Amino acid sequence: MKKIIALLLTLLLSACETQIITVPVFIYDNSDAYMAEFESNIRLAAQPMDYLIRSFNSQNSQIIQNDQIDPFMNKDYPVLMINPVDRLSVYAIIEKAKQNDSTIIFFNREPLPEDLALYDKVYYVGADAVQSAQLQASLIMDLFGNDPKNLNEYDKNQDGIIQAVILKGEQGHQDAEARTKYVIETLTESKYQIEVLDISSANWDKETAQTQMEELIPLYGDKIEILISNNDAMALGAIETLKTYKFFDDLNQDGVIDRSIEPWLPVVGIDGLEVSIESIKQGYLYGTIKNDSESMADCLVQLADWLLKGKSLENFPYTITDGKYLWINYQKLSLEE
Ligand code: GAL
Repeated sequence: MKKIIALLLTLLLSACETQIITVPVFIYDNSDAYMAEFESNIRLAAQPMDYLIRSFNSQNSQIIQNDQIDPFMNKDYPVLMINPVDRLSVYAIIEKAKQNDSTIIFFNREPLPEDLALYDKVYYVGADAVQSAQLQASLIMDLFGNDPKNLNEYDKNQDGIIQAVILKGEQGHQDAEARTKYVIETLTESKYQIEVLDISSANWDKETAQTQMEELIPLYGDKIEILISNNDAMALGAIETLKTYKFFDDLNQDGVIDRSIEPWLPVVGIDGLEVSIESIKQGYLYGTIKNDSESMADCLVQLADWLLKGKSLENFPYTITDGKYLWINYQKLSLEE
């Protein structure tokens, strides 16, 4: 009798399980510090939902990602969340989704508008890189003072020009290109003079930035008045090297840099990682721009929920632009704020 009950229970459980919908989430690369936080925010946001999240690390390979996506292109998986490895080649993914009538929510790595236009059941959740550059420029203006014609003491050589080194993210990524271009443009438009000593690509990566600084310091060293990084991971990597060259020096060994009495070099990032907030508190990182993955995760998870329930998106809590785009604002974070 016990055996029969156990069997019945197992059957009942598996019947229930098959009814719970799974939404697969494909992350371009979990070794990316920001995406690792983003992924855990998606898991957290999805906890109260009545569908399950199953997440995949595509290890920065579009080939791996395509293989991971394939088994989910069928009627059992009506919604897929995709952070594409190669944002320029989502065409094939969209075509498959179309044949299968699945909905795709892309995020963080923005596909081309012409690809998104191929299908109506496709969305993009992201943040406007131009806004992050403008806010980062505003952090820099806060530091050098409100009067572009009369910079304060952070203009070390007092030549009226901000000497900067830029650490650039992954080539071809919408955020790396726009952040680099518009941080300079915003400063120039606000009448600040900026001399870019070098733009060095470190692929969003802490260790790469750390090594690259080894090459940049001998070239520019004391000339650098600010290090502008396209993201926090690279900013924090650069800080590590700057520490070894005593550009940051905790002379009194109290664990905190007091920039009024101890060596310090301004470094600004973007993302607002948890470790960056710590670095700001300890006086190292000057500031960052929060690339709000909590809100983006909430938006993704809600959108999937509404789509699964077949609700009309007319009253969806996040604004939908052109029927496809859901934009989340960046926010400035620094000790000054
Ligand atoms: C950017 C973020 C970078 C990196 C990249 C990955 O938005 O600022 O740190 O994670 O996304 O696509």
